[in-house]
Amino acid sequence: MLPFKTLIETDKSLKLPVYQQIANRLIGLIQEGILKPGLFLPGSRILAEQLALHRKTVIAAYEELISQDWLVAVPRKGVMVAANLPVIRPRSFRKTVSPYGSEAAFAFHAVPTVPVPLPPPTTGNPLVVNDGFPDARLAPLSAWVRECRSVIESPRYYKLLMYGDATGSEALRREMQTYLTNTRGLSITIDNVMITRGAQMAIYLAAAMIIKKDDYVIVGSPNYFFADLCFEQLGARLIHVPVDEDGIDVAAIEQLCSSRKIKMLYLVTHHHHPTTVTLSAARRMKLLEVIRKYKLPVIEDDYDYDFHYSSAPILPLASADHGGNVIYIGSFTKSLGLSIRIGFMIAPVDFIAGSASLRRLMDLRGDNLTEQALANLLADGTIERHLKKSNKIYRERRDLLCGLLQSRLGDAVQFTVPAGGMAIWLRFSKKISLKKLSEKASRMGMRITSGEQYHYGTTSQNGIRFGFASLNNKEIAEAVAILEKLVK
Ligand SMILES: Cc1ncc(COP(=O)(O)O)c(C=O)c1O
Repeated sequence: MLPFKTLIETDKSLKLPVYQQIANRLIGLIQEGILKPGLFLPGSRILAEQLALHRKTVIAAYEELISQDWLVAVPRKGVMVAANLPVIRPRSFRKTVSPYGSEAAFAFHAVPTVPVPLPPPTTGNPLVVNDGFPDARLAPLSAWVRECRSVIESPRYYKLLMYGDATGSEALRREMQTYLTNTRGLSITIDNVMITRGAQMAIYLAAAMIIKKDDYVIVGSPNYFFADLCFEQLGARLIHVPVDEDGIDVAAIEQLCSSRKIKMLYLVTHHHHPTTVTLSAARRMKLLEVIRKYKLPVIEDDYDYDFHYSSAPILPLASADHGGNVIYIGSFTKSLGLSIRIGFMIAPVDFIAGSASLRRLMDLRGDNLTEQALANLLADGTIERHLKKSNKIYRERRDLLCGLLQSRLGDAVQFTVPAGGMAIWLRFSKKISLKKLSEKASRMGMRITSGEQYHYGTTSQNGIRFGFASLNNKEIAEAVAILEKLVK
């Protein structure tokens, strides 16, 4: 008799009932050719003894397999593996391993990657200095839950649960039209609006609509790493143009456009990632000229526009005369919460229609319920009030952090107070190992990035983004005290 005791292992701590575990294992043994068609299995009493289980459990497993036609009950003889199953050459008696091991058996494309910013800790409660994320404690979650509930309870909910327009909920696009006109001076109709899962999806879709293999794409140096990775994945050749305190070097962009075919420009006009600088008004005007002259398609990533502290923000390029070349991208993930994935793309109508078709190939549509809930929160003023409140708090946090860094770390660090956004770009005066800094910080109870992602594709930055928005005053003071010990 086969060594069923070693061939069938069961685990009572699993949610899957034990009889089902036995049945699944017997199917596996049949598929592996170890239990051949026509073979009689041990009687239920014997198998139960071998497996140290109740007989009823084995009977239930046999009955299950008989009903699935894997086994046949032969009167007075017992239970047999169905004779009509194909004969398979046995592999071995070894315990089967999951076919989903760590490596695929087939070749597939390598997707470029960088060490992403720190994930939230799963245990304990360390101090986390992130890349520049919002404070989830401030998010208008009760209003959010209320609206999600009211959407589900509305008589129209069943319509919202259907597939629909891949450009997003009409109600939200309508609200967006008003919102973007009021806050950014955009002159658009709802057909220029597409709702995406965060700004990131919009960046990918827009780029995929434009870039072909070996096309030249201009990006900042340094640049938002996920944009670089995305364009490279699409086959682009990146040309990195310096970013200084006035933003991306527009003269260099013009020079490049005059010397070769540039397929696209990607830039972050407000609170550039990672440096947090804002493109100056003078450079914007010059850039608009270049865009029109060379008919240069531009992705304007304005992911952080709603968070502005010093003065009224400069209006985006998208609000000016760009000759239909600017694709404007933004997000609500920073207002509602990073995992409430609602972003948007504003572009000419045909480009939106094409992007929606492309999106359908991987995501038939966005999340209608959450889009409707956000539309309600925009309409009733909740988002506006939340932004007002969080801007005030984030501004105080920015000022506190900058003041403390100045007084506690002095010349050891350099930074410019950002006009908005959620992080400061902190550079260290002496060359330091950011990896070691991050490791030492971790031993002192603080998680902070080693900043490797900012070095992607460009020269080493000797700096990190220090997110202030998600830390309260006490946490900011603690974080600076730890940083002081590490740096000094
Ligand atoms: C510059 C930039 N663009 C886009 C994104 C993506 O934002 P979302 O979470 O809306 O996809 C981020 C994320 O922080 C970012 O820093």
